[in-house]
Parts: sequence; structure tokens; C-alpha cells
Amino acid sequence: SSHGQPRSQPVHHLPPPVRHHRPSLASKVAVLGAKRRHRGQPLSLLLKQSASVSQLSSLYDYSARRVSGFDGPASLSDCLKGSRVVVIPAGVPRKPGMTRDDLFNTNAGIVADLITAVAKTCPKAMICIVTNPVNSTVPIAAEILKKHNAYDPRRLFGVTTTLDIVRSNAFVAEAKGLDVSKTPGEAVEWTLKQLSTTAALAGERAGDRRAQRRHDHPSDQPGGASVSFKAQDRETLTTRIQNAGTEVVNAKAGAGSATLSMAFAAEKFVDSVLQAIDGKRGVIECAFVESTVTEAPYFSTPLLLGRDGVEENLGLGNLIEFEAKLLQAAMPELQQNIAKGVKFVKERY
Ligand code: LMR
Repeated sequence: SSHGQPRSQPVHHLPPPVRHHRPSLASKVAVLGAKRRHRGQPLSLLLKQSASVSQLSSLYDYSARRVSGFDGPASLSDCLKGSRVVVIPAGVPRKPGMTRDDLFNTNAGIVADLITAVAKTCPKAMICIVTNPVNSTVPIAAEILKKHNAYDPRRLFGVTTTLDIVRSNAFVAEAKGLDVSKTPGEAVEWTLKQLSTTAALAGERAGDRRAQRRHDHPSDQPGGASVSFKAQDRETLTTRIQNAGTEVVNAKAGAGSATLSMAFAAEKFVDSVLQAIDGKRGVIECAFVESTVTEAPYFSTPLLLGRDGVEENLGLGNLIEFEAKLLQAAMPELQQNIAKGVKFVKERY
């Protein structure tokens, strides 16, 4: 049976990658949940190639839905020991017809158990949550960490937002005939995601916000193009970004959700985190974090990253009406998702 008892699974301690420069600090990264066909597997492969990662530890499988009295399994603590960054893609993916929230019953407990191990083994690690529903699993992680006096809101990130940015950039670049490698974060600056109703927003004022941001953080996003869209195109594009995850789920027809693009996005995020903790200035990424930007206690916005994680939340900037409406529409469901995660920990742990 795959439930109840933790199955002991091999931990792959991979040799350090060939690199052109050495990171100045030890930068061990742990990936929890890297079984076959799972997004953690291509993610591990990409991290293995990254010059920022000194050591990679991937926990192959995590089958137990609940693990009691978590001191083990030994392989999990081995995997986590000494990690600067922990990435959690474990859990089940959507099948066609499912919402992300439909994954809650299976994935909530998995995240809670893995975070318990993180709190005990490497409480200072930067924690990157990929497991859906991220709107709920990030609050779950926060509540578990609080119980272990290990919660620091600067170090807990929901990173599926990065995937929305990657998608936004790809679609915007495609629409405008731009080089996607030169448009990161430019046309679409922030996303509300993981909500069936919402997603990345392409706004006419993106250019203004970017100009302001570049003024504040001169090293951010050099060389990007400024783009704007007609209202109709903006709507079409937004819907496409909103539905991109579902498009992949449907195309895979039961075999899972996006693995390669998610791995690409998560690797990009982890690389940024590692560079920031290594002292690089002006590193900006979007993630779903504890937040006072909106009335919801967690939200996705661009973040200035530093040695201790989030150094500054860069907020939403000025919204055009189209964006403000999407934000408003997203709120009730987002609030519900967050409350559900908090309640889960209060009742079960
Ligand atoms: C995605 O957007 O691809 C992920 O959130 C996975 C999913 O279920 O869509």
C-alpha cells in the first residue's frame, strides 16, 4: 500500500556539477519529490547543471500520506541536512476536469509532513513550494513552521508564480515578435495565480511601472522592451495565461500536469534565491508570500531578494482598471484557499 507507512526510498547524493565559477558559500539544494514522470525529476536535472548549486539531494519518492512522529524516514533527514534551499514539488498533479483545490486532500498532508521535517532538520533553509494548491500549501507550511518556532516569512515562497511569468513572457514575446530572453518580467510584471479565476496580467502601464522600478533598482531587467496591448488582445492573452496550466493537463489526458516548464521556472527561481543569499544585489523574482499588499494575508508580487530571503516586497504598482477588476475577482477564492490551509493545520497538527 502506498499510504500509512513511509516507504524508505533512495536518496540520490549527486556529485557536484562541473562549474565555471564556484559559489562562495556552500549551497546545498534539496528537492523533495522527484519520482519518475514527476516535475521534480526534470527540476533535479536542471539544478544539477546549475553553477549556483554546490550539492543536490533529491528525495526520489514520498508515498506516505501521513507520517507520525516525524524523526524519519532517515532518508528524508539525510536529504535535508545542511540544505540552504529546499524545493517541494511532491504530491499528485491534476487530471483533466480537476481544479487545483481538488488536490488539497492528498497534497496538504504531504506538504505538512515534509515541512515538519524541514523545521526539524534545516529550519533556516529557504523553502520553495511547488506543490498545488499553492494558495493553500504555502499557508500550511507557514502554520507548521510556526508550531516549530521556525517560521520566517522572508524565507517561504510559493513558486508556481514564476511559471506564470515564464508563460507570460513567452506569450507576450510571441505576440510582439520579441526575444523572450530579453523580456523577462517586462511585459507582465506580476501575477495572481493558482486561482481558477485569475492569472497574469498584461497591462498598458507595465512600461511605466518598469521605468519606475528600474529607477529604484537600476540592475533590474536591463535591455527589455516595453510593450502594450489593445484591450481585446490583453483579454485574450490574459485568458490564455490563466488557462495554460489546464491546457497542459488536458493535453496530457490524465498523465499529469506541466513538468518541463515548471521545472524550468522553479530552477530559475532557485538560482535567483541562491545568488541573492550569496550577496548579489538587485535580484527580483515573483512569488506567493506572506503579504500586506492586499487584504489577503498572502499574495504574489515581485520581491527584491537578499541574503535573508525577501528583502522588500515591491508590491503591485498602479493598476489599470482591467487589472483592478481581476484582483477584486480573485480575492474571495484566494481568501478561502488560504483559510482552508490554516484551518487544516489548526485541526490536524
Ligand atoms: C501549472 O499551472 O501548470 C501548475 O499550476 C500545475 C497545474 O495543475 O496546472
